[in-house]
Amino acid sequence: MSAAPAAGLIGIYGHGAVHLRELERLSVAGRARVVACADVRAPAGEQAEALGRLGCRYFADWREMLRPAPAGAGPLDMVVIASPPHLHTDMAVAAMEAGAHVLLEKPPVVTLGDFEQLLGAMARTGAACQVGFQSTGSGALGRVRQVLAKAELGDLVSFGVTGRWQRDRAYWTRAGWAGRAVLGGAQVRDGALSNPFAHASMNCLVAAGVAEPGSQLAGVEVERYRANPIEVEDTGCVRVSLASGRAFVVAVTLCAEVVERPVLRIRGAGGQAGWPYEGDTVSIESGQRSWTETFARRSLAAELLDLIDGRSSTLSCPLEHCATFVQLIEAVHAAPVCEVPGRWVGSAGAGVAERPVLAGIDAAVDAAVRQCRLFSELGVPWAVAAPGEVGKPEK
Ligand SMILES: NC(=O)c1ccc[n+]([C@@H]2O[C@H](COP(=O)([O-])OP(=O)(O)OC[C@H]3O[C@@H](n4cnc5c(N)ncnc54)[C@H](O)[C@@H]3O)[C@@H](O)[C@H]2O)c1
Repeated sequence: MSAAPAAGLIGIYGHGAVHLRELERLSVAGRARVVACADVRAPAGEQAEALGRLGCRYFADWREMLRPAPAGAGPLDMVVIASPPHLHTDMAVAAMEAGAHVLLEKPPVVTLGDFEQLLGAMARTGAACQVGFQSTGSGALGRVRQVLAKAELGDLVSFGVTGRWQRDRAYWTRAGWAGRAVLGGAQVRDGALSNPFAHASMNCLVAAGVAEPGSQLAGVEVERYRANPIEVEDTGCVRVSLASGRAFVVAVTLCAEVVERPVLRIRGAGGQAGWPYEGDTVSIESGQRSWTETFARRSLAAELLDLIDGRSSTLSCPLEHCATFVQLIEAVHAAPVCEVPGRWVGSAGAGVAERPVLAGIDAAVDAAVRQCRLFSELGVPWAVAAPGEVGKPEK
């Protein structure tokens, strides 16, 4: 019997810890040999214990990890990349050139130029690249897509994602790249729309059937706001117009009054559906009936291993399916970031747990998606289409 594919991981803390657990699960199942990992921060605690169990070699420099053995760990069959987004392209290209297939965290790239560079590396090396939009592995997304495609709830009234999270000072100060547009001359493009809620837009694009190669968006309108002292948006909305004449709105905030998990919502003339996309259950109301449907979720890492083993050639989120997502990200970052005047911003928590609370944001997020409108079109007082036009506070 041939040995299981050799896997390496770049980034073992932060979201990388989730990948380390999944790789250990796959190792125990005999699906992968987790032979190497790289991080600028040395393994400690749970990470050190997991690496010990796996017999996994640690590298402080990810380039060393990709070097052919004995100097490095290579050859690796699969490299999982969970580093900050602005490092993705160099790491992924190098991993492909070292002969590995890649599981690349979202957002896969931060610019269109990087996207083209990665596609070029794939064509040159024959490598596959799966992108870490994990909800694309959920059967719930296929169901939502079916609801839209077949107009199961009657004529479409609106669809999109609402997202209401709270993030405190500790979040924005956890890493040098957090909240940055540019860092050391490199485009970082963090921000609620392009990073924590990237899944929201990607899920809508897939649900609308416009994530396949060759798809184009007819238009992207963007509003970006910030209540935190950061370079990007902590609150924003985007309306995406499709060639079909349909449109969707993603409206999100990290300064919520009350937290609510992100939900992909569909409203039709005859009912509505909702998918909290971190899970796998879709709720549907049609006429007088309401019910839920629960689906399985495929592991993105296991899918890539299946492809390497020749068991399957299907990936839930191949990089080629991210062209319209990258188009959307380019539009987001071309829009100005408007600072919300302090009179609309409350505060909760203290010290590193302190966080801004944006007045009226919860209702605005919900209304934007329900009405397919941008915040400024809803008459939200702090919302303006361009900087410097913020409305006056009500007395
Ligand atoms: N799929 C999801 O739901 C999800 C959730 C959270 C984060 N993410 C994504 O995961 C990626 C990492 O995000 P994060 O919040 O964990 O970031 P982070 O900065 O907290 O952690 C990234 C890890 O990479 C390491 N690292 C940084 N620079 C490195 C370098 N030059 N070489 C090797 N390792 C390096 C860090 O030490 C850390 O262990 C991002 O792309 C992010 O968008 C995805």
